Amino acid sequence: MTKSDIILKHLSTVFDPELGANIVELGMVKDIQHVDKKVTIKLALTIADCPMRNQIETEINRKLKLLENVETVEISITAMDQKDRTAVMEKAREKARENAQPTNVNPRTRVIAIGSGKGGVGKSTLSANIALGLAEKGFQTGLLDADIWGFSIPRLLGISGRIEANNDKKMIPYEIGNLKVISTGLLTSDEDTALMWRGLMLSKALEQFLTDVEWGDLDYLIIDLPPGTGDIQMALSRLLPQAELIVITTPQLMAQKVATRVADMAKRSFIPLLGVIENMSYFESNSGEKFNIFGEGGGKALADKFGIPVLGNIPISENTNNIADGGTPLINQENNSITKAEIDKLINNIATQLPPIVDESCTGRLAKVFEELSNQ
Ligand SMILES: Nc1ncnc2c1ncn2[C@@H]1O[C@H](COP(=O)(O)OP(=O)(O)OP(=O)(O)O)[C@@H](O)[C@H]1O
Ligand SMILES: [Mg+2]
Repeated sequence: MTKSDIILKHLSTVFDPELGANIVELGMVKDIQHVDKKVTIKLALTIADCPMRNQIETEINRKLKLLENVETVEISITAMDQKDRTAVMEKAREKARENAQPTNVNPRTRVIAIGSGKGGVGKSTLSANIALGLAEKGFQTGLLDADIWGFSIPRLLGISGRIEANNDKKMIPYEIGNLKVISTGLLTSDEDTALMWRGLMLSKALEQFLTDVEWGDLDYLIIDLPPGTGDIQMALSRLLPQAELIVITTPQLMAQKVATRVADMAKRSFIPLLGVIENMSYFESNSGEKFNIFGEGGGKALADKFGIPVLGNIPISENTNNIADGGTPLINQENNSITKAEIDKLINNIATQLPPIVDESCTGRLAKVFEELSNQ
């Protein structure tokens, strides 16, 4: 082992807590010079004013000074270029995948979280409709109401009742055709349980819903996130590394600014952004005239900013307050053709952008080859 190898070995015990990997495997150590008792290190951080900078420098100093032949440590910091930064993100996701705790969600399940910066933009409405739509297409779909305290999924789907546990003490979701639903609203019928859930941290509750529920083999799991950013997104990326995020915004440019925060947070937690849905985009009268009640352009501006697609522009429906909020989801309403049509388009877009992972068996694949051969 050369002197530099020894230094490198010690540096690999310094972790970037945000990225969950050590600074050597993240490719941050660009150069090591060890002359007499002085070590000079060139360190490339994701951004030069990285909030972890002080902590990482202190750690490096502390670890290296433990070595006999090191008296002074000099660290010069640079910022990574785009290529290095992408590589670091990849590495961090790989790590997250390796270290993921086992959940009861099949790793081949497509997990789509629906989030927004602001409350009341239609996360729950769209989560419920998307999940129902995917289930109606024949996909095995789960819908997890991660809004632990502000749950609204049971009301939106017009369901109630108490979820039961099976012999393995796993909760059995409420089933509507191919759709399996879990929400605190289906658990808390007595005060004690309500209190117990209130005492739990959001991230802990999410963990329980992922590990203690009998989800079965799902093609899709749709997660209705609580408003805002934070803990729950971090927990999601830790627990379900395959999770992707759809951001909902309304057309106002102000709303789009708030939504940017969620997207930024997702990037920091290494959750890929699948796309943007602009909700309450416009109102269309019976004569086909369009009114941009909440302004326009917010969805596209947000999508452009992050280089992701707009998956749908959902018009304002007249029938939410009385009908949708009363338990008949928009896609099940015959009389709301424009909104229903746009939601159907959105569901098709999602199923195309993120098709279910097909677990083909060898026999299935062979049968396909034979079929192709016989058609030639
Ligand atoms: N396209 C739409 N047209 C008309 N009303 C809508 C539309 N989408 C949602 N709404 C209504 O807006 C209100 C808020 O929607 P929803 O509860 O889905 O938002 P949310 O983002 O989940 O809110 P929260 O942040 O409180 O969880 C509801 O009354 C809902 O019926
Ligand atoms: Mg909601």
